[in-house]
Amino acid sequence: MKILHYDILDSTMDEARRLLRDGFKEEFAILTKVQTAGRGRHGRSWQSQSGNLYLSVVTRDVDPQKLSQYALLWGVVLQQTISSLVTATVACKWPNDVLLEDKKLAGILIERFDSALIVGIGINILHHPDQVMFPATCLANYGVTCTPEELTDMLVQHYQRLRASWEKQGFDNFRNSWLNTAWKLNSEIKIGKNDESMVGIFETIDENGALILNTNGQKHKLLVGDLF
Ligand code: BTN
Repeated sequence: MKILHYDILDSTMDEARRLLRDGFKEEFAILTKVQTAGRGRHGRSWQSQSGNLYLSVVTRDVDPQKLSQYALLWGVVLQQTISSLVTATVACKWPNDVLLEDKKLAGILIERFDSALIVGIGINILHHPDQVMFPATCLANYGVTCTPEELTDMLVQHYQRLRASWEKQGFDNFRNSWLNTAWKLNSEIKIGKNDESMVGIFETIDENGALILNTNGQKHKLLVGDLF
């Protein structure tokens, strides 16, 4: 995969959009040292000073039915890559975060551009924010000080291996890999969506990545929300 390197960008998501709009045809990834307008899910901002990883990976001609499956695939890619660097527990947190010992280490943002999928990945290597909804951590707290470039190479290798095995063995394997490391599976959780929240048992995720929440025997299928 072609990886384009930058020193500074507004957001790797926006640069990916510009390149797609200008007719860039192959699959590519964008890595920058700093972002001036990094964004997270639900329009939140993503602090992006030098030392952490800010990456967007573009996949062409994605079947719209499979969008949420790609999100889970990338969750597993991050989980496995980070697990190869630390001995502490690395978990996938629904819908799109990766936790290191219950603290947020990485987030994934999925956007579409025509039939292309832009997967934005932020991983805290040297820094993590303090004033956030969910406690955060970084790899340096665990003695890991790889560069964003080294981490990108590892992610791309895991992605290519896992994508090939997805194509060969089908998606259910990934759902299981994701569930095997899922944070708070079979536990009571609170899901917030806009100003409302629901409490119930996190039973599973379905084949589309929706979370199945059991509230006193009633099953709810949730496609978006924040998990606490
Ligand atoms: C989240 O947890 O809300 C998702 C965060 C995604 C952040 C990454 S950093 C690289 C890419 N460019 C952005 O502006 N956002 C994503």
